[in-house]
Amino acid sequence: MDRPVRLIFAVSCFLCIAAGCRNKNVSEQQDPIVLGYSQLGDESSWRTQNTFSIKSAAKRSGIKILFEDAMQNPANQIKALRSFIAYKVDVIAFSPLVETGWDTVLEEAKAAGIPVILVDRMIETSDDSLYTAALCSDFALEGRRAGEFLVRKFAGRTTPVNIVELAGTAFSTPAIGRSEGFREVLSAHPKFVICFSEDGDFMQSKGREIMQKVLKLYRSDEIDVLYSHNDDMTFGVIEVMKEAGLAPGKDIVIISVDATQRSIDYLREGTINCVIECNPNSGQQVMELATRIVSGENVPKRTYIQETTFDEFGDLDSIANRGY
Ligand code: AHR
Repeated sequence: MDRPVRLIFAVSCFLCIAAGCRNKNVSEQQDPIVLGYSQLGDESSWRTQNTFSIKSAAKRSGIKILFEDAMQNPANQIKALRSFIAYKVDVIAFSPLVETGWDTVLEEAKAAGIPVILVDRMIETSDDSLYTAALCSDFALEGRRAGEFLVRKFAGRTTPVNIVELAGTAFSTPAIGRSEGFREVLSAHPKFVICFSEDGDFMQSKGREIMQKVLKLYRSDEIDVLYSHNDDMTFGVIEVMKEAGLAPGKDIVIISVDATQRSIDYLREGTINCVIECNPNSGQQVMELATRIVSGENVPKRTYIQETTFDEFGDLDSIANRGY
């Protein structure tokens, strides 16, 4: 190679390398965050909306989401978390079905340097460093709100108020919080008696089954209140009551949790008396947390989602369309 040719070759090599380096930096900045998301299942209308919120927020935020539905099985969730670790995702988020049993897999995520966000439900662990942030509802507050409604509703009553409780999935954070918060408020008023409580797994079919059983165990005039931990179970209860010729909301006072459009419609027509909101639209907040964590920012350990109560004492015309 003579001198001018050598010079052109050297300059071309330098430009190529420089261009390559610049492209690499640009592409590093532009690589989307990869989020591994383990959803616990699709047991309720709330959950369907929550999944929609997560997926659509990921799309809007330019976050690549690897989404797995565990179909109500914690073993499937653990498997999904392990697959995210093997894939070396940037961040993991998951909605734990129940509170216990997560330490081992979360230690594996921690060892791999992958931050974890808990969404919707909490875990029970002695090592809080196993997750970076939690974004969830204040389920005990929801339970207290249900109790406070009853205190107001039965303010003038001196005889016992018999309550049937349809609880959510056993050992899940919402079932624990909604039971504990409710009992906390009612414990100051001995007239309230929880005469029956059973886990209906947040499913409409189980709400139906349990209400059929309850109506075999008790005469309808022996039950004053039905407190259901979610709307889908409430819908099952309402079906059974109507089939039995009862007027839900009148013969038996009904409190439900979630605030789907259907339950708000029932509240407006007097079929349900009180609806405690549980907000499923957490997608945008999850994506913001994921982005901040991946960029090395400090984030709050726990964030509660904003929620409210709708009941027969309030202005029902002003409730905005729920959208799900
Ligand atoms: O964890 C939130 C609860 O789970 C919702 O109240 C319920 O509908 C869902 O299945």
